[in-house]
Amino acid sequence: MSTNSRTIAGRSARWDGLFDFMQMASGAGLILFMWCHMILVSSVLIGPGVMNAIAEFFEATGMAQVGGPLIFLVFLVHFFLAARKVPFRFEAQKTIWSHARMMRHGDTWMWVIQAVSAMIILLMGAIHMWVVLTDLPITAAKSAARIQSGFWFVFYLILLPLVELHVGIGFYRIAVKWGFIKDDSRSMFKKKENILTVGFITIGLLTLLRFMFLN
Ligand code: HEM
Repeated sequence: MSTNSRTIAGRSARWDGLFDFMQMASGAGLILFMWCHMILVSSVLIGPGVMNAIAEFFEATGMAQVGGPLIFLVFLVHFFLAARKVPFRFEAQKTIWSHARMMRHGDTWMWVIQAVSAMIILLMGAIHMWVVLTDLPITAAKSAARIQSGFWFVFYLILLPLVELHVGIGFYRIAVKWGFIKDDSRSMFKKKENILTVGFITIGLLTLLRFMFLN
């Protein structure tokens, strides 16, 4: 290899490392956001007044008006960074699919779920954020009216498990890559992560039902 091509290879490896880091950092940020988001939305389970008070706080401090579009931006950046590794060509998709089936390797399957759910979350998440952020302020009554229309109930029934699966797998993959979990504790971590994911989906479903029956 010539000195010139070695320099180019070194530079592209550095960019790749930087993009990898940014992908994980934006993913970690979005995971934290989704946990806070669940607290905001599910606070309606305690009472609509509690949800309204939290939403009011976010608006009074400008966090909804500024933080909302910022989250939208991080969401898009995260998608484009992660999309570098997703095979969009049919031939490459077929190869990954057959490898996943051949290897029966849990982590490869997780990657496939991660990539497929990402496409749907990109579209549905963008529609959701647009609808909520162009109709501020957030109130329990407005959310309930949306969900009682039926369309948004079904919409969230699809988005909720996809997001929670994506977040759960993302959390596990970041922990493995950044070395927070060692090989011998992987399966234990996975089990705890699955419990957390099921817990979030359950709270999300209860929240949707609460909105459905809110007067
Ligand atoms: C820009 C920031 C966001 C705001 C201000 C926001 C706000 C809200 C609000 C007010 C609701 C209650 C339902 C409604 O009013 O229609 C809700 C529900 C929901 N949001 Fe968001 N959201 C944001 C970002 C996201 C993102 C990035 C995702 C995932 C891609 C997401 C996924 C969901 C899901 C799955 C539900 C249903 C929750 C449940 O089952 O209890 N949201 N969001």
